[in-house]
Formats: sequence, structure tokens, C-alpha cells
Amino acid sequence: MLVAASSLLLASLVSATPLPKACKILFDGRVPLTATPADFDKTTSLYNNQFILGQNQTFDEIIKFPIVLPSLFDLKKINAKPVEVTINDQSIFFPGSGPLQSGFRRSELIPGPNNGTDSTVIGTTTVHFSIQTDPLKPLNYSHEYHPVWHERNDFNGDHFDLETGTPFTPSKESIPIHNPKTLRIAGFSVPTPEQNVFITDFTDFTWHNFALTIGWNTNKTTVYYSQNYEPLKKVAGPFTNDNSDGGQFHFGFLKLPTGPQGIDVAHQGYQEHIRGAEGLIYGGIFIEDSSNGCVTLS
Ligand SMILES: *[C@@H]1O[C@H](CO)[C@@H](O)[C@H](O)[C@H]1NC(C)=O
Ligand SMILES: *[C@@H]1O[C@H](CO)[C@@H](O)[C@H](O)[C@H]1NC(C)=O
Ligand SMILES: *[C@@H]1O[C@H](CO)[C@@H](O)[C@H](O)[C@H]1NC(C)=O
Ligand SMILES: *[C@@H]1O[C@H](CO)[C@@H](O)[C@H](O)[C@H]1NC(C)=O
Repeated sequence: MLVAASSLLLASLVSATPLPKACKILFDGRVPLTATPADFDKTTSLYNNQFILGQNQTFDEIIKFPIVLPSLFDLKKINAKPVEVTINDQSIFFPGSGPLQSGFRRSELIPGPNNGTDSTVIGTTTVHFSIQTDPLKPLNYSHEYHPVWHERNDFNGDHFDLETGTPFTPSKESIPIHNPKTLRIAGFSVPTPEQNVFITDFTDFTWHNFALTIGWNTNKTTVYYSQNYEPLKKVAGPFTNDNSDGGQFHFGFLKLPTGPQGIDVAHQGYQEHIRGAEGLIYGGIFIEDSSNGCVTLS
């Protein structure tokens, strides 16, 4: 009788608080504890082993494993660790045709299976990433940086950008940026202004966790954010955004030059000599299927 009553109680507790169902993971970019920088140059890498880095660079030279606590979703996987992406004076990309992109400094990780038309850009998907500064390899916040974005398959714009630093063109932003050391999510990059839908201070020694749910057919985007080990909370959207044409996710960063308005930023402008390297630490990168509304929050 007692057994029956307690199992009844248990059953009602279980039904009252169902365990959240795990969402279907389309790309798991969480880096195994055993990974080395040189692994990112191999064809077995989780990420594209050829793009994006300086013309004469290898990933072995630009990938670091700093000693920081794992991010929220690295911990959830248990055997995953954060990864640092760095740039230096040699981080000048040659796009294969046309001139070197000497205006930019850039190093980025692109998910291996993400060829522009794969399952990560079909239906509705949620991209997860955590980001942290490296006080030993600081950015120069006089410049504009893009630490994460999703570029259209035809390269004519980004569906969203995570931005930090001083905007190269302040009028491109829908809000005035008073503090350059902020993380800002902007929607589709082609309109002027682009819509700054979320802004938060880019505090050091803090994991900044993001998730963006992108409806590739519905043109709706939702942004989630939290710090350290707090569950994600919705901070923007769903807002209307041009999400057409598929494309690729970039984790790692692009540093714009400084210089007069109107220059060709990919090829002109000023880049100060970088002493050593500048770096940003990434963790918990994965992409899940949210076509049925599933979004992992904690
Ligand atoms: C890469 O090396 C080649 C050959 O030395 C050189 O011509 C080119 O300018 C270098 N590229 C960069 C971005 O430094
Ligand atoms: C991209 O990946 C998808 C899924 O694996 C595949 O069906 C498609 O053929 C690939 N496209 C190209 C251009 O490689
Ligand atoms: C999404 O936006 C693109 C670009 O404006 C448009 O071509 C497409 O028809 C839109 N899709 C929907 C479902 O509104
Ligand atoms: C930061 O960048 C600006 C603009 O390029 C430059 O004038 C300044 O010297 C740089 N600061 C450092 C510490 O490199």
C-alpha cells in the first residue's frame, strides 16, 4: 500500500516535471579534451581545415587552448574544452580570386559539414556559442570586430553578426554605441541601419552564452543570452529578418581597419602592428534542429 502510494506520488511528480527532451543536434562543434591545435589542419577536423586563416598560416599556429573553466555547454558534454582563436599581423586572407584582404585581420572556424546548403540552414535551427575575452591577448576596441556571424551562401551579406569594438560606420548601427567593449547582435547586414537587437557589456573573466534560433524560411530570428552557468533567457525576438539563401557560420574573428568613411575596408585602411596576438575564447558551439520548437536552454 505504502509502495503503491509512493510510486503514485513519484509518477505524479515525474509527470509534473518532465525532463526536457534533448533537441536533435545537427552539428556538434564542442572540442574534445584530447584535441591539439594541429588537429584543426587535418581533414578529420570538426571544422573546415582550410578556411578561414591568413594566406601563409596554419590552424596549428592560430588555435590555442587557454586554461579557463569550460563553458555551460562544454560542461554538459563533459569531455569538451574551450578553444581560442587568435589573429596576428600575418592573418591576411586570400579569397582565391582578387587581391589579398589586406584591410582585415581574420581567423575563423567554419563547421565542417556547413557547406552553405546543408541541414544547419534548413527549416529552423538554433546555433549555440559561448565567448570570453583573453586578458593576455586583448583586442583593440578602437577597431570594429565581428567575433561570430552567418554569411549568405552568395556572400552578399550576413544574416546576423555578433559585433564588438568601435563601429567603423556609426550610422550603420540602429543605436548609438557609447561603450565599444560591448557585445552586440545585429540582424541582416545589408540594410542601413542594420538592427542592433541586443547589447551587453563584454566583461572579462565571464562566459557570455548566446543562442540564435533562425527560421530559414520564416525569416524570424530569436536571440537568447546568459552568463557563466545561468540558463539562457530570451533577450530579443522573434523579429523579422531576411534569412534567405543559406550560408555558413563563422566562429572566430574579423578585425576591420580604421580609416576614413567610405573606403573599401577589405583592402584599405589602417591596421596597427599587433604585439604577439589578439584572441577570443569560444566554447559550447553546436547547432540543433528547432523546427519543432526545441531549444536547449540549460
Ligand atoms: C605569403 O607568402 C608569399 C610567398 O612568400 C608572399 O608573396 C605573400 O605576400 C605572403 N602572404 C601574406 C599574407 O603575407
Ligand atoms: C552540401 O551538403 C549537403 C548535405 O550533406 C549535400 O547534400 C550537398 O550535396 C552539399 N553541397 C555541395 C555543393 O557540396
Ligand atoms: C524571406 O525574405 C526574403 C528576402 O526578403 C524573401 O525573398 C522571402 O520571400 C522571405 N520569405 C518569407 C517566407 O517571407
Ligand atoms: C589601437 O588601434 C588604433 C587604431 O588602429 C591605434 O592607433 C592604437 O595605437 C592601437 N592601440 C594599441 C595598444 O595597439
